[in-house]
Amino acid sequence: MALKDLLLTPGPSQVPDRVKLELAKPAWYHRSARFRTLYKECRERFQRIFETQGDPLIFAGSGTLAMEAAIVNCVAPGKKAVVVSAGKWGERLVQICDAFGIEKVVVKLEYGKSPTPQQVADAAKDPAVAAVYIHLSETSTGAKYDVKGIGEAVRKANPNALLGVDGISGAIGMECPLDAWGVDLFMCGSQKGMMMPPGLAVLSVSAKAWKVIESVKSHSYYACLKACKKNLAANDTPYTPANTLMDALNVALQMIEEEGPRNVLARHALLAKATRAGVAALGLELFPEHPNEVLTVISTQAGVDSGNVIKTARDRFGVTFANGQGDMKGKMVRFAHMGYVSATDILAGMAVLELSLKANGVNVKLGAGVAAAQDVIAQADKSVTL
Ligand SMILES: Cc1ncc(COP(=O)(O)O)c(C=O)c1O
Repeated sequence: MALKDLLLTPGPSQVPDRVKLELAKPAWYHRSARFRTLYKECRERFQRIFETQGDPLIFAGSGTLAMEAAIVNCVAPGKKAVVVSAGKWGERLVQICDAFGIEKVVVKLEYGKSPTPQQVADAAKDPAVAAVYIHLSETSTGAKYDVKGIGEAVRKANPNALLGVDGISGAIGMECPLDAWGVDLFMCGSQKGMMMPPGLAVLSVSAKAWKVIESVKSHSYYACLKACKKNLAANDTPYTPANTLMDALNVALQMIEEEGPRNVLARHALLAKATRAGVAALGLELFPEHPNEVLTVISTQAGVDSGNVIKTARDRFGVTFANGQGDMKGKMVRFAHMGYVSATDILAGMAVLELSLKANGVNVKLGAGVAAAQDVIAQADKSVTL
């Protein structure tokens, strides 16, 4: 057991003390003016942070609920969904379609790849395609998708199709201005960039998506967006909201607004750059073709079980990284820098990664990764929050 813990997993992520203190407060009744004010405030904060005039809805649930709601309310029988699958979370989109008997066209790519706009647009040009679902960050591989470019290509190929983006790990830490990039359905969970514990799902819905939703019979009762819309006019929810979690969310979003959403993006970009420089200096490879700003996925060499490296980091030093998922288990270390993460966390994480690699027989020069990360940080624009 180490003396202190440092959580560097791609969700759950670290929670600031200000948010934790809010979570310690007494329970209160949710059918009240207090709740309606809180819900409105959180939703307005999301509108500013996500740069949208759309409707961010907040559910008690995890990110998967937002994915399910985005699919089951938007694809009518006889219509199709296009789904990009290049990792575990793309596979989940496929599984949700299958669970509800929704016809799908899968753009299947090797793990670690990112789709080109043309690949997605080719799949979306069939007029029966009602919606296209992609990721901002595919957390299982650390890949970044070109949401802006894919959106433009899809709108050209099929102007009626909705663009659904799984931003569960990418939101807040990666650029994705919803209205400017034409994102109709933006799916999020609280336990990553939002600096919150798990428990809330967020789905932002555009005016274009609402038009489709009005005409589609939802496959789900709890995730029925028409029911949400009915209650939205009164700033309320159809079912019991997680009101105490939402109090904490309001504080977390306030902190994001205090830092400035664009500054938050700059911090994530800098920490990602520093982490990638550290990995390169250690002679290790990145797994994804196009790495993103919220987590760095490092391939471990053949013969090295990443699970052992991760175990040393956690048990000896208290630093938690994540292993690969599914077939990728044992082959990678997922080093996250999402949410409430500072430069100090990255430098500590890099130092512990080096120690843990060395303890498991990988020939790395201690300090090389840290020095490379420090160089990036030393040269950074001084206005970036560290
Ligand atoms: C990109 C992405 N999509 C979906 C999910 C599933 O979200 P949840 O576990 O909150 O239901 C995750 C979780 O890590 C994710 O990273």
